Amino acid sequence: METMASAPGKTILFGEHAVVYGEPAIAGAVNKRATIKLRESPVDVSIFKSDDLGFEAELDTIAKKYTLKKGKPGIINYILEILSKYHDHSPIEVDLSLDIPIGSGLGSSAAVTVSTLAALFKYHGKKFDKFSLAQKAHEVEINVQGVASPLDTRVSTFGGLIYLSRDKNIDRLNTNLKSSFVIGYTSKRGNTGRMVKSVKSLKQRNPKIINSIIKTMGNITDEAKLSIVQGREYRLGELMNINQGLLDSIGVNTNELSRMVYLARKAGASGSKITGAGGGGSIIACCPRNQDKVFNALNYYDNAIKLNFSKNGVFVK
Ligand code: MEV
Repeated sequence: METMASAPGKTILFGEHAVVYGEPAIAGAVNKRATIKLRESPVDVSIFKSDDLGFEAELDTIAKKYTLKKGKPGIINYILEILSKYHDHSPIEVDLSLDIPIGSGLGSSAAVTVSTLAALFKYHGKKFDKFSLAQKAHEVEINVQGVASPLDTRVSTFGGLIYLSRDKNIDRLNTNLKSSFVIGYTSKRGNTGRMVKSVKSLKQRNPKIINSIIKTMGNITDEAKLSIVQGREYRLGELMNINQGLLDSIGVNTNELSRMVYLARKAGASGSKITGAGGGGSIIACCPRNQDKVFNALNYYDNAIKLNFSKNGVFVK
């Protein structure tokens, strides 16, 4: 028997880093997905493979170890964590298709985690709802990364554009935005765990200053929620630019990200900022007009994607 599950990546519009300290955030599922197929292994050992990532590994799901056959492991620790906890250790083949660039800040690890859990629960005939799936996926991310907010896994599970409130409730945002967005991602991967730890230690050294910056980020997110609902795209761009200044101040900017942020604005974006953890990874630009111009400028510099939000979260077959 074969089961299949697919889950989207995400982009954070507002609230990255601040969300780790209880502030709200806005994020949307994107039209890029992770798809997992599970079947009995053709050999007597479990296998994790991905043609898209060009790798294959044999897994020891009890000892949480792997032997690499081809390529680089990347996302493998999430798979091992899930199989060691929720699988009965019978030989299984896990086949990943991924069109979300890894380390780009577009939530590849959350999408892989959510889709693998959903496919595995179906494989074992276990009933689940989206709330418990998102919760379990969040726990997997914490175990693998050490730190994570529930944002990525929730967006990947539920889809759509969401506002995660201070008390961790989800509001689905009905947007009147006509804008299109562009993601520019640098070839240098971001490391979420490392960036979250570096903000934490900056905060420990400068509690008063950094706490007030984090609070201001939360206020920006609340204003942005209004702008999204009211469809005020130029206001939204302005808020993105203010947020970018604050992200820079907490040390998650890089030369390359900064370059892309300003290139996007020069090409006509109404606003642009880092999306995700920073330190590499991606920026997002709001483009009420000029989507092609912004896309071309960013793609010429490094890589770019024209972004569409996706209403669809995880689904299983
Ligand atoms: C990473 O996509 C977003 C951060 O806020 C970390 C998290 O929310 O877990 C930097």
